[in-house]
Amino acid sequence: MNTIQSYDNRPIGVFDSGLGGLTAVKELTRIFPNENIIYFGDTGRVPYGTRSEETIIKYVRQDIRFLMSHNVKAVVAACGTASSVALNHLKNEFPVELIGVLEPVCTAALKKTKNHKIGVLGTPGTINSGAYSAGIQKLNSAVTVIEQACPMFVPLVENGYLTHPATYLFAEEYLKPLMEKQVDTVILGCTHYPLLETVITEILGDSVTVINAGYETALHTKQILKEKNMLSSQTECGNHTYYVSDDVAKFSCLGGMFLGKKIKAAVSKIDIDTY
Ligand code: DGL
Repeated sequence: MNTIQSYDNRPIGVFDSGLGGLTAVKELTRIFPNENIIYFGDTGRVPYGTRSEETIIKYVRQDIRFLMSHNVKAVVAACGTASSVALNHLKNEFPVELIGVLEPVCTAALKKTKNHKIGVLGTPGTINSGAYSAGIQKLNSAVTVIEQACPMFVPLVENGYLTHPATYLFAEEYLKPLMEKQVDTVILGCTHYPLLETVITEILGDSVTVINAGYETALHTKQILKEKNMLSSQTECGNHTYYVSDDVAKFSCLGGMFLGKKIKAAVSKIDIDTY
């Protein structure tokens, strides 16, 4: 019997607390360039990583509602904090494929580790939620997980201090407990951390595998859409549309650092409190 291949040309919705989710858009574009993407960066309310669970859930609910108003076929929470703190609470609330970073990243880390010691770097919100430890140990309870909050990493990245001596100083401090426990795999559990990969890998050394959440989530998204016959049939490059909740010019200017290229598409400001 022939299986009928169907397609879904609606856009994929991606959101983050601000600019950082563009690291996931970069990977999504590399992995499936023909998909249309609608991105929402909650630049007016960033950071999420230092807020309470209640506030993060409220913000994430509004972010998803906004994207759903654009008839998206799936919503990707490109934000480590949103995925760790809020998605579990909201997964049954929306009739849409809701994809977070947690599952693909935990699976990838478990495939890579040989000594069963995994380190996780994230915002205070992500680390306090314990979501990565729980996610990994649910899949393999024999694994030791060492979690480390890195509150200075987001401001360092946002100020362009990607390889500054201050960044090395903080990175050495944050990575020390992971190195003492001899982890062989480290999860970059925040959107901003791929920009610090040079510093992080230099300190950790070649024997440690670093997992990039954006890349793993992009691969996972493709797999889900493929399984559900929801990939786009478009052959040309997809359209990208960007929305923010604060200054458009700042997003267009700084966004290139996260996306790996200049943002050429239109960026519009919306009032997220109305969603
Ligand atoms: N996007 C956030 C994350 O991945 C980092 C910035 C923030 O704290 O909002 O956890």
